Amino acid sequence: MTKPRLWITRRLSDATLERAARDYDVVINHEDTPGTAEELIAASAEFDAIIPCHSEHFSADVVAQFSDRLKIVANHSVGVDHCDLPALKARGIAVTNTPDVLSDATAELAMLLMLGTARHAVAGDRIVRTGAWDSWSPAFMVGKQVTGARLGIIGMGRVGRAFAAKARGFDMEIHYYNRSALPADQAQGAIYHDSVESLLGVADFLSLHCPATPDTINLMNADRFALLPEGAVVVNTARGALVDEAALLDAMATGRVAAAGLDCFQVEPGGNPAFAAHENIFMLPHIGSATRKTRDAMGFRALDNLDAFFAGQTPGDLL
Ligand code: DGY
Repeated sequence: MTKPRLWITRRLSDATLERAARDYDVVINHEDTPGTAEELIAASAEFDAIIPCHSEHFSADVVAQFSDRLKIVANHSVGVDHCDLPALKARGIAVTNTPDVLSDATAELAMLLMLGTARHAVAGDRIVRTGAWDSWSPAFMVGKQVTGARLGIIGMGRVGRAFAAKARGFDMEIHYYNRSALPADQAQGAIYHDSVESLLGVADFLSLHCPATPDTINLMNADRFALLPEGAVVVNTARGALVDEAALLDAMATGRVAAAGLDCFQVEPGGNPAFAAHENIFMLPHIGSATRKTRDAMGFRALDNLDAFFAGQTPGDLL
């Protein structure tokens, strides 16, 4: 039987690429450059399936120019804000993602950012690294204690719950906002707030774990930053689009926000150059899911979805 033709847009894990090469007539972009609109449109005429990352943008305009050959976009990501889902659906193209498998890796990174921002990781590293550490005092680099503090989580999906589980290890008092309250076995004692505004009032530490949708763009704006307790710490490992970055800087200038840990930015790659002057912003380059174990699991999950689709079954992660 002829194998389906598959385009893999980026350099996925070795195990993923080996399995893909075994089961598909695959072309891999070994140069690892993001797929352009032109490349996506051309690929739609040459391939039955694409495994893209969040770096490839399936806008309505691009999808409108697709050939009828492409049948499935099996994303190597949990977030699908780079895909115009209604446009893909209208073209009869199946779309899948990779939930679950990256929750722990992303929650680990959120924990790193929360601890690092609370305890001056950027300034502390710099001062030792540059040889500028020439004195010590009890008043030196005094941070904000995480243990026992109140944590607000926006979006109590898989990643939010994984983060809450890790935060329980620090005896944090966990509050959350979600579209609906979780059943008790998932909430594990976390306190539900039926509005973002209500949650923000108790969020000494705030961590974002919701998807970027038209409803959540600039979710954290000036009005909402103003509701945080004085000296709050803000962590974002979800999507840059959730945070109005100018409003964040303003909130930091007033002291409302003491520090921020960011793995996601409005502009990626690149980030926000205005953040660079602030050592109380701990930044990472969108690497929440970047562990070897998770990269393999994401690749295999995308291939599982493709395998089901081409076997005539409904992929487990069909959106
Ligand atoms: C995801 O899976 O959405 C991560 O942000 C990496 O793309």
